[in-house]
Amino acid sequence: MNEEKLPPVVGSKSFIAVAINCAAKAGEWIKIKLGSVENLELKCSSADLVTEIDKGSEQLIKKLIRTHFPNHAFLGEEGVEPGAAASSKAIAETKDAEYLWIVDPIDGTTNFVHGFPFFCVSIALAYKGEVIVAVIYDPMKDELFVAERGKGAYVHGKRLVVSQDATLEQSLIATGFPADQIYALPLNMKSLQHIAPKVRNIRVSGSAALHMAYVAAGRLSGFWEMNLNSWDLAAGSLLIQEAGGMVTDIDGSHYTLEVRNIVASNGTIHSQFVDELQKSLQNSK
Ligand code: IPD
Ligand code: CA
Ligand code: CA
Repeated sequence: MNEEKLPPVVGSKSFIAVAINCAAKAGEWIKIKLGSVENLELKCSSADLVTEIDKGSEQLIKKLIRTHFPNHAFLGEEGVEPGAAASSKAIAETKDAEYLWIVDPIDGTTNFVHGFPFFCVSIALAYKGEVIVAVIYDPMKDELFVAERGKGAYVHGKRLVVSQDATLEQSLIATGFPADQIYALPLNMKSLQHIAPKVRNIRVSGSAALHMAYVAAGRLSGFWEMNLNSWDLAAGSLLIQEAGGMVTDIDGSHYTLEVRNIVASNGTIHSQFVDELQKSLQNSK
């Protein structure tokens, strides 16, 4: 039988049901493990951490997905060598897969290691390069953000809608301090200095995926950060789009799985936000 004709459901489990099951199971396990990290490793710098719990969470998710969808491709952070070049190569090699699961098993590992309760599991499914399913789970608040393309974004049955803020001046914005302290951190600091006096305030809470979920939920009106990876952004991008917001590259071009410099917003402030970020980076390229 031609594989193209197979329905998108295996063993009567839908994609979204499997994604939710994986995120919930991994999230619960991570929460139980909070405060009991035994093996802390540094990746590219002392700001780039990985633990045995990141790896265990990814294995748990990978096994569950493989059980239901053995023919789907899988891209998880812990299966890729550290550094931007390896991350870019990994997504370039997998983005054209028919079905690709993109997983960050703990987004916010630094928070997790320090017991700061702002981290999540992020799971996206892309079909021919376009994200169609997204789940972000915050086990500490027991908040499960879900979206399916064309069907809206929800948190526990409540529809997500982006904020109504009309200008940057009225907006609460988030960013991150990138783990790459040579290239990305100085650029983000330039933008931070430029943007801070133009917005109501800035939050830097240490999980890009959860910041994206908060933009979808209208708790933040925007988020930007340089040099992120597909697993930080894929699920959040669909949540925001389905909640009525916008996600682009920092140059304003449309979001793809390969985008690393992200700007996400409620849509209304997007062009003002991109313009100001562009101004902040003039003479930096
Ligand atoms: C990190 C977080 C953090 C962001 C870093 C990411 P990780 O992901 O999203 O907020 O500033 O750039 O690498 O390493 O905790 O999965
Ligand atoms: Ca991450
Ligand atoms: Ca991670």
